[in-house]
Parts: sequence; C-alpha cells; structure tokens
Amino acid sequence: MVEIMLPKASRVRKGKTWPAPAAANGKKPKRSKEFKVYRYNPDEDGNPVMDTYTVDLDSCGPMVLDALIKIKNEIDPTLSFRRSCREGVCGSCAMNIAGGNTLACTKAISDVSGAVSVYPLPHMPVVKDLVPDLTGFYAQYASIQPFLQTKSAEPEKEWKQSPEDRAKLDGLYECILCASCSTSCPSYWWNSERYLGPAALLQSYRWLIDSRDEETGARLDDLEDPFRLYRCHTIMNCTNTCPKGLNPAEAIAEIKQMMVKRKA
Ligand code: SF4
Ligand code: FES
Repeated sequence: MVEIMLPKASRVRKGKTWPAPAAANGKKPKRSKEFKVYRYNPDEDGNPVMDTYTVDLDSCGPMVLDALIKIKNEIDPTLSFRRSCREGVCGSCAMNIAGGNTLACTKAISDVSGAVSVYPLPHMPVVKDLVPDLTGFYAQYASIQPFLQTKSAEPEKEWKQSPEDRAKLDGLYECILCASCSTSCPSYWWNSERYLGPAALLQSYRWLIDSRDEETGARLDDLEDPFRLYRCHTIMNCTNTCPKGLNPAEAIAEIKQMMVKRKA
C-alpha cells in the first residue's frame, strides 16, 4: 500500500487568538467577525499556523481586503499580503477565501457565513503569510510571448483591426493575471513545471485569435507538447473561480480545436 506523507513542517497548526478590539466608544463592538488567517514566517522554524482575529465590522470597509488592512493597521502589523488597486484591477490581492480563490478586494465579508478563513493561493511556494511566490507563473506567461508579432512591413500608422475582429478579444483581454484560475486547477498543482495552466493558456489564445498577429503557426507549434497544453482535463475549476468572470476552459478548448483543424 502506498503511504503518502506530508512534507515536514507542512501541517497547518492552530495559532494565536488575538484579543478582540474594543469599539471606538470603548465598548464591545455591536457587529464583529472572526478571521482565521494563515501565517507562515520562513525566518522562524516551525509549521504554519492559523491565527484568529476579531474585527469590528462597524469600523471596517465591506470587503475582506478592508478587514486584512484593518488587522494589519490596528492589531498585527506583521501580517503580510499583497494589494494595490483595491478595486479588482491589478490582481495582486488574489488569495483563498472561505475555500475559493478570489480577490480579497472584491470579496464581500457579508458573503461569508461564520468565520472567514484566509489562505494564500493553493499549491504555490509561500514567501510569507498570504504572499505566494509567483515567479514560475510569470515565467509561464512570458513563455507564450504575450505581444503582437508580425512579419509584414510596418504600416505607416497603426495595425488596423475590424470591429468584428476586435470583438473576438472580449472575454480574454480583461484577464488581470491574478493566478486564481491556475492555482485552483488540480492538473496545474501536479504538473505546474510543465503544464502552462489556464491563465497562460487564456493569454496564449488571446494572441492566437488576434487578427493582426502573424505568428499563429509558431505559437501553435510551441504548444504542441504532451504537457504545455494537453494537461488540461476540463475540470472547470478555472472558469468557476475566475473573479473576472472569464472562461479559461473555453479558451483552452478553442486552442485544442485550432490544433486539430490545422492537421486536417
Ligand atoms: S483568467 Fe481570471 S482567474 Fe485566471 S488569471 Fe485571468 S483574471 Fe485571474
Ligand atoms: S488590490 Fe488590485 S485586484 Fe485586489
């Protein structure tokens, strides 16, 4: 019988329960919420832990990111997480909240019943607390050459595109590279060194169907590999989790069809 052991120090243990803060008037807050947050510090020996914080909802913004910022500002300044735009545009606050990958800045606290669990994006190396190491993810994005490639002579002004061809990029160009989709995909968990994953493949398709791009053949050649494209098994976690409502699974299916058509 196969025995599977978790790597040393990978078990998440119970951490500290931080004292609930008093409301602004010094009394117990009328509305409060518990947040159970993954903590890991590579500079300290030991396992990751889940710390528990209580947040006064009457003095907090409505989103999970508001609560994390409040915790960092008022309770525990050592808590680390990424954020920038605070409105679902930069992709940097992606994390696993209440069991699903999403953006902390667009996930409403009121959408979660009970305590809010917050983990870093799954199956990625953790730099600290809620900050995953996305080096490999960005390298995969760079590998699909996400820019216009042409062979024809440069036009005097811009490369033109009809409104119909431009419309084909809808549902693709909106990707903010948050990595929620790729890190929700079991196939990516087990093969992330060789399978490009839904985010990079959605971007790849974005350039494959751009009417102005002239390297479609080379782009498809690059994906012709048992792992880079074909490790997608249509599990659909990517599409179900995308916080921008995009459909990476469909984009991957379209690439597979392009592969078949060019061989016919
Ligand atoms: S497809 Fe959606 S989930 Fe995936 S990286 Fe882009 S925005 Fe994030
Ligand atoms: S902070 Fe930019 S997407 Fe959340």
